Amino acid sequence: RGPDTYSPTGQETGTPQGRVAQDGAHLTTAQGARLYDTDHSLKAGPRGPVLLQDHHLREKITHFDHERIPERVVHARGAAAHGVFRAYGAAAGISKAAFLAEGVETPVFVRFSTVLGSRGSADTVRDTRGFATKFYTQEGVFDLVGNNIPVFFIQDAIKFPDVIHAGKPHPDREIPQAQSAHDTFWDFVTLHTEATHHTLWNMSDRGIPRSYRMMEGFGVHTFRLVNAEGATTLVKFHWKPKLGVHSLVWEEAQITAGMDPDFHRRDLADAIEAGAFPQWELGVQTFPDTEDQMFEGIDLLDPTKIVPEELAPVRAIGLMTLDANPSNFFAETEQVAFHLGHLVPGIDVTDDPLLQGRLFSYLDTQISRLGGPNFGQLPINRTHAPVNDMLRDGMHQTAVHRGVAPYRPHSLDGGCPFLAGADTGAYIEVPAEVPAARKVRDAAASFDDHFSQARLFWLSMTPTEREHIAAAYTFELGKCWEKAIKERALKVLANIDPDLCTQVASGLGLPVPEASVPFAAVEPSPALSQLSEQWPVD
Ligand code: HEM
Repeated sequence: RGPDTYSPTGQETGTPQGRVAQDGAHLTTAQGARLYDTDHSLKAGPRGPVLLQDHHLREKITHFDHERIPERVVHARGAAAHGVFRAYGAAAGISKAAFLAEGVETPVFVRFSTVLGSRGSADTVRDTRGFATKFYTQEGVFDLVGNNIPVFFIQDAIKFPDVIHAGKPHPDREIPQAQSAHDTFWDFVTLHTEATHHTLWNMSDRGIPRSYRMMEGFGVHTFRLVNAEGATTLVKFHWKPKLGVHSLVWEEAQITAGMDPDFHRRDLADAIEAGAFPQWELGVQTFPDTEDQMFEGIDLLDPTKIVPEELAPVRAIGLMTLDANPSNFFAETEQVAFHLGHLVPGIDVTDDPLLQGRLFSYLDTQISRLGGPNFGQLPINRTHAPVNDMLRDGMHQTAVHRGVAPYRPHSLDGGCPFLAGADTGAYIEVPAEVPAARKVRDAAASFDDHFSQARLFWLSMTPTEREHIAAAYTFELGKCWEKAIKERALKVLANIDPDLCTQVASGLGLPVPEASVPFAAVEPSPALSQLSEQWPVD
């Protein structure tokens, strides 16, 4: 698989598709004129000044001068692979999406990434990992843009620039947080305690995966599926690696970051080249689409919460196999553009305020990252479904639109009726009820519990995993310059678990604070309390 095999079916274009550069018997200019010398510029005599007239010189250097595009504002460092998704048919009853019907095979492109580091940063740093999948379905592109951690730092997209700015290098030295000043990150996550759960996952072994091939993936948000009869189900998406979940230990991660900063990138490419194709099962947790969109006391619209698999098991609905490396990193891995709004009939979004903000952000950033509004025409982004849109022109337009009437209805070009209702296979948003409401900026009260699920996660850890978590907090907080931030972090840890707090406080040489939110006041749902009692502590 590669960009040249993408079928641009339906693209109304008279231009050659998937043009392969660096091919043919002769070296040419970009215009195809044969060159006889690309090593010497045109000069007024062998020792004279260079002539402006030398088009080949100017074309070659000008193009080089513009080779770089902006790296992604987050998730800049990544690696990707092509593959295929084969549906088991298990979701066919809850979603009418054609690619989920039994036995249907859909080409996919998956990009794994770290979040905070720049494009040239090391792979094995402690961070969340991106897990973004593009399904080239016959009904259009479906993108599942997830992470390897099932929860997020914030509950509202308006805080995304803030949490990212807090985690990025400080403006004076531009040294990544992973190596120097940790103050802004820890300042943010201790003042915004909704970040507690995600931070705890980051400090666990999940923050330093052994391999992209050994990570789970999560859609994080709750999505809404709709079946052929119009019945809806709320779901959370999960990717389960066939190789199991494995992590590095911190010492391995640090040494590897120094000795082989491309460790994960190499591991993925080498495995695929050797024919050891990584596989993941796609699964869904399903919940009734109730008016309050709660399940067992858990707000399904709160992206800082999971639904424990003991309460809602993950049902496998298909298998993904990654079986081909990209042939060109820039054309594919760098230029791929994922978007949560890339949906197909049968899959819809919910009102999760983080998800809603993401729906705006990705297209907006890609317009500047990929130079205008036509990046959907790049081979890696092209849908495999026929395209007949009314978009026109713009930077880097390669489609040659025909006809004179880009509007509906029209009576020219042979005439065309009004669109609505005419096409039964169309994407139609679920007409979900929006409760009568006042315009507010407040969050729901059900978003207020910031600690009970963090505690649940801690209680589910083995003693070795707990040791790793306490060591990670001690190491990372030890890098903070401000004592007040370390003390505040200990207060957060006291709200998760007294043992964890005591271990980290002793590592930092600071007193152990009292919990500021007594566990009783957290009021976890009955189901969650029962579960933490059931789970073995050791
Ligand atoms: C990129 C996941 C929240 C803005 C990405 C990528 C992933 C991802 C996997 C990398 C895509 C790639 O490989 O090209 C997530 C998850 C989130 C989340 C799972 C929360 C559950 C947000 C929010 C915003 C945001 C709240 C903004 C409001 C961006 C932007 C990019 C990005 C601007 C760069 C996209 C590009 O340049 O192509 N995100 N993200 N993300 N995300 Fe998110």
